[in-house]
Amino acid sequence: MYKGERMVLRFSRGQRVAHWALAVSFFVLLFSGLTLMIPSLAPLAKGGVARMIHRVFAVVFMLVPVYYALADRKGLQALITESFRYDRDDLLWLLRMPRYFFGRVKGMPPQGRLNAGEKIHHALIILTFITISLTGLVLWFGKGNLSQNEFLGMVMLHDIAMYIMVILTIGHLYFTFVYGALQGMVTGYVNEKYAALEHAKWLASIKAEKTADGKLPQSKSA
Ligand code: HEM
Repeated sequence: MYKGERMVLRFSRGQRVAHWALAVSFFVLLFSGLTLMIPSLAPLAKGGVARMIHRVFAVVFMLVPVYYALADRKGLQALITESFRYDRDDLLWLLRMPRYFFGRVKGMPPQGRLNAGEKIHHALIILTFITISLTGLVLWFGKGNLSQNEFLGMVMLHDIAMYIMVILTIGHLYFTFVYGALQGMVTGYVNEKYAALEHAKWLASIKAEKTADGKLPQSKSA
């Protein structure tokens, strides 16, 4: 970021708090869950502390959408609707994704607030979030009422959702660092040049909302 650069608001405070609460609870759940799942890590789960941590953070994880809805209802609605809506530019973007994978943005079709890859990532996160939460609740509260097969089925679904989330998170981290996107999720702002290159349709839509004094409604100088 250079002094004088124009910055555009990409993530509200509520969106950032929700994101980091989700990320932290996800990693705590992952590592505490692995101690319950992998026999060689079982000594770490001795005394029931890991199981307790897993349950406490499962509650935090499941409350994230509730917090998101209270802090920024429009942001949550946009995340859900945009993640499942794809236009022609998104399909073209996906066809050209191999070049984006290696850090080349020039020549990619213009994108909205989320690029097509982010849309797929976020849509799968929403679906796996629902699966892992529901199966987790059944395993927590329904254990005594399930047959052995039902119990194993729930464990399998819970594990599959976890594996998918791990793969998605590895991809998510890769693109975050290849494209230097971290600043947006930390400060809320991205520079306007970055927005023009990566999310041209989104930048055009917020420019169309210019206020009477001609300034972008959600911009500042670095
Ligand atoms: C330390 C780990 C993580 C880092 C550094 C990170 C980084 C980021 C960044 C930079 C963005 C904004 C991308 C953009 O400009 O469009 C983002 C968005 C997002 N990330 Fe992560 N992330 C992490 C972990 C996770 C995890 C574990 C999940 C899910 C389990 C996740 C789910 C999401 C979602 C759903 C969004 C969209 C947020 C919204 O629009 O409200 N992230 N992340």
